[in-house]
Amino acid sequence: MKKIPRLSLPADARPDTLAVREGLPAGPWGENSEALFLTSSFVHPDAATAAARFANEEEAFVYSRFGNPTVMMFERRLAALEGTQACIATASGMGAIALIGWSLLKAGDHVICSQSVFGSTIVLFAREFAKFGIETTFVSQTEVAEWQRAVRPNTKLLFAETPSNPLTEVCDIAALATVAHNAGALLAVDNCFCSPALQRPVDFGADLVMHSGTKFLDGQGRVVAGAVCGSEQLIEEKFVPVMRSTGSTLSAFNAWVVLKGLETLSIRVRAQSASALQLAQWLEQQPQVERVFHPGLESHPQHALAMRQQSGCGGAVVSFIVKGHQAGGPELARRNAFHVIDSTKVCSITANLGDTKTTITHPASTSHGRLTEAQRQAAGITQGMVRLAVGLEDLRDLQADLIRGLGSLAA
Ligand SMILES: Cc1ncc(COP(=O)(O)O)c(C=O)c1O
Repeated sequence: MKKIPRLSLPADARPDTLAVREGLPAGPWGENSEALFLTSSFVHPDAATAAARFANEEEAFVYSRFGNPTVMMFERRLAALEGTQACIATASGMGAIALIGWSLLKAGDHVICSQSVFGSTIVLFAREFAKFGIETTFVSQTEVAEWQRAVRPNTKLLFAETPSNPLTEVCDIAALATVAHNAGALLAVDNCFCSPALQRPVDFGADLVMHSGTKFLDGQGRVVAGAVCGSEQLIEEKFVPVMRSTGSTLSAFNAWVVLKGLETLSIRVRAQSASALQLAQWLEQQPQVERVFHPGLESHPQHALAMRQQSGCGGAVVSFIVKGHQAGGPELARRNAFHVIDSTKVCSITANLGDTKTTITHPASTSHGRLTEAQRQAAGITQGMVRLAVGLEDLRDLQADLIRGLGSLAA
């Protein structure tokens, strides 16, 4: 079959090279920067070729709902970075998880999911997929035995996110892959928090890796995007036909933005992760702070696992609990958390993460606000918790920003 050509990069090209080079061959004009193909459809030389392309007898671009050169450049580049054969881009990170469900599950199937995943992911599995007869059991992020106990004969998918948001709990990808494969199921990992710059879940046995491209892949808070990476067989046979029918396509413009974001991914994420660790160590020293969560801290319960799994880095997200939780109850804790957030002048008060601008948020009332109190408690998200996603500002300015609120807290 005639295929869309590939670039002739050396087979052993390393990730930093692939991040700026992988994609499609340049067009007839020899452009050095990847082109943005803003076109809904593609013209065929004659009717017979059009028929061959519609019948999938020749691989070519036909219609941008299911194929666009700029989107394909992003897909090829992300697959190369994740170490997978293929990738399919989606309109958002939630669109990527929905595509996983639509493509792999049917009524009567069972899913096992960490109870510490992103709030909307919990809602998607617990409420939306349940409408179609798919049942989900939520289990501990860190206790592999709980995942094992939850396995049923109809279990088809295990879904994990590591590190988790906002507690940065780390799950053991290799151990979960074993549980999944022994059960004849697939393991999908949300790799949003680390990105392939720090962690490649397929190296530990995961079958699928999903992304909110909105986060570190773009890295500059500009667009909403998503993707699922996996084997060519899974992507081509299971995902592509569903995408064609459901149309949760990534726009060419957003694909172009994220494609260019990938070029600086590694240097951004490593710098942000190093800064986050320093900030976490500093926060641990502050008397107004009850507890700090960052996988790079030796006090983190899965520190050793995180260092093995995440290229020795903790990632750019740091959460902490301001004092007042035990003494004054959840109301005082919430007031204190709001005070710290509202006292900042540099940080952006927004629930997004992975931006070069540091963001600060109160997970219990924002990213996890749609959960019931019981679901929040199970996920360990208390009212005194503040989450930072560290950007590229000078660390001293971030410390000054936080001490403004911490230093003037009500007892
Ligand atoms: C870990 C994680 N997964 C998935 C998503 C969903 O991504 P999107 O907002 O691009 O739909 C988010 C978004 O905040 C997230 O933090």
